[in-house]
Amino acid sequence: MRDDLREILFSEEQIEKRIKELGAEITRDYKGKQLMLIGVLKGCFVFLADIARHIELDCEIRFLTASSYGFASVSSGKVNVDKNIEFDVDGKDVLIIEDILDSGITLTALHAIVAKNKPASLKTCTLLDKPERRQVPFTTDYTGFVCPNEFVVGYGLDYGERYRNLPYVAVLKPEIYS
Ligand code: IMP
Ligand code: MG
Repeated sequence: MRDDLREILFSEEQIEKRIKELGAEITRDYKGKQLMLIGVLKGCFVFLADIARHIELDCEIRFLTASSYGFASVSSGKVNVDKNIEFDVDGKDVLIIEDILDSGITLTALHAIVAKNKPASLKTCTLLDKPERRQVPFTTDYTGFVCPNEFVVGYGLDYGERYRNLPYVAVLKPEIYS
């Protein structure tokens, strides 16, 4: 483990196993449907790439962008999200794929924007959920792991755009971000 990390919370093997389970569940739940996955950039890029390959359905993959953190380890409470969706979700079964549910602000905003475009159904899937940090009530339909109230990096999650390429989810040493 790199010396700027305090501990590995979810190993590569644990993540791989859990993603296979989630992929199988989603495959069962959407059987016979026209699934659209919407990844929330940038944090979703690793999770989406892996889970998509375990969803055995004909699906359309799109992306939206959201950002709130910048160089901080706590949410600014303001999110910048794509307000105009440049593709058609009308009548489609949409599943939003995000790295982590934290305060709930980002997914609440994105959910509302997609819902306004009248999908046939709308669900959310995150790799991680930090329930202790919720500021607005939000629950996901598919969750990889419940995560303790720690700032985590890796497997797509960043601090200042770094660490996204770690194959596991780890806790950063507090001295790195304080
Ligand atoms: P929310 O709007 O507070 O739910 O935050 C969601 C976004 O904050 C995620 O898409 C992440 O980009 C970022 N985020 C939340 N917690 C962490 C963390 O522990 N590490 C890295 N990014 C995080
Ligand atoms: Mg993100």
